[in-house]
Amino acid sequence: ANEPPFDIKSLRSDIEMLISDNLDLGPSLVRLAWHEAGSYDCFKKDGAPNSASMRFKPECQYEGNNGLEVPRKALEPFKKKYPQISYADLWVLAAYVAIEYMGGPSIPFSWGRVDAKDGSVCGPDGRLPDGAKTQDHVREVFTRLGFNDQETVALIGAHTCGECHIKYSGFDGPWTHDKNGFDNSFFTQLLSEEWVVNPKIQKMQLMDRATTKLMMLPSDMCLILDPKYRKYVELYANDNDRFNKDFSAAFKKLTELGTKNLRKAPAVEC
Ligand code: HEM
Ligand code: CA
Repeated sequence: ANEPPFDIKSLRSDIEMLISDNLDLGPSLVRLAWHEAGSYDCFKKDGAPNSASMRFKPECQYEGNNGLEVPRKALEPFKKKYPQISYADLWVLAAYVAIEYMGGPSIPFSWGRVDAKDGSVCGPDGRLPDGAKTQDHVREVFTRLGFNDQETVALIGAHTCGECHIKYSGFDGPWTHDKNGFDNSFFTQLLSEEWVVNPKIQKMQLMDRATTKLMMLPSDMCLILDPKYRKYVELYANDNDRFNKDFSAAFKKLTELGTKNLRKAPAVEC
């Protein structure tokens, strides 16, 4: 049977309540699921993606995962309340619920991810992308994960929500004016604003000249500087439905990397 051994409807609404009490958790849950998967190498077939391997050392201590203890801890009570769900499924379900809660697409959830037993399966440090770098690096990382240029651009559109924290990454600020909303505004801002270096931040990041409130990483800017990426930025800036559809497919693929025998959960009725 496809029916999961936990009350998915009740769990979904518990996660929604958690986010409604603390809106900033929404984006951090999306980032948690992404970094858990982002350790994968599709050529070597290692890195323990979608296995909650980030609970363990050394992965939880990688610099790129700074700050992700916050969403991990926030989900811990649900693992107690619904012991039959794996951490790996819980993290992905929470990200899907967060995306939908923020106004993004509803992504069909499949369950059956198996948790790593310890840190021996963690991928090496350095597999997550570096925001200070540009297209050659971004393409190398996403090719290693198994994504093409179109999927890469769609995925990075997740920077429509959330923000950078000096204490976690050394970068500072949100990408869009509504950091708790999920739509194509990352792409519209990228194309419509004039981006200049922010002299107040030690690391190299850009700010919009008009309000100076928004930010872009060098790795975000490369999406309009590289013509092969730029055509998808233009596509998604002009078509929010297309962004939702392509993001949904790419994020589902990301959160199913390296998994076997997943089963479709019953569709959610809204
Ligand atoms: C946040 C880099 C791709 C989702 C961040 C932060 C950095 C970063 C530096 C700030 C972390 C902090 O200080 O708290 C990058 C780079 C990417 C990339 C270099 C690729 C070139 C992605 C992808 C997704 C994603 C593919 C999801 C599909 C997020 C979200 C946040 C975030 C939602 C906000 C977290 C929060 O508000 O707590 N990213 N990212 N990013 N990233 Fe990315
Ligand atoms: Ca992992």
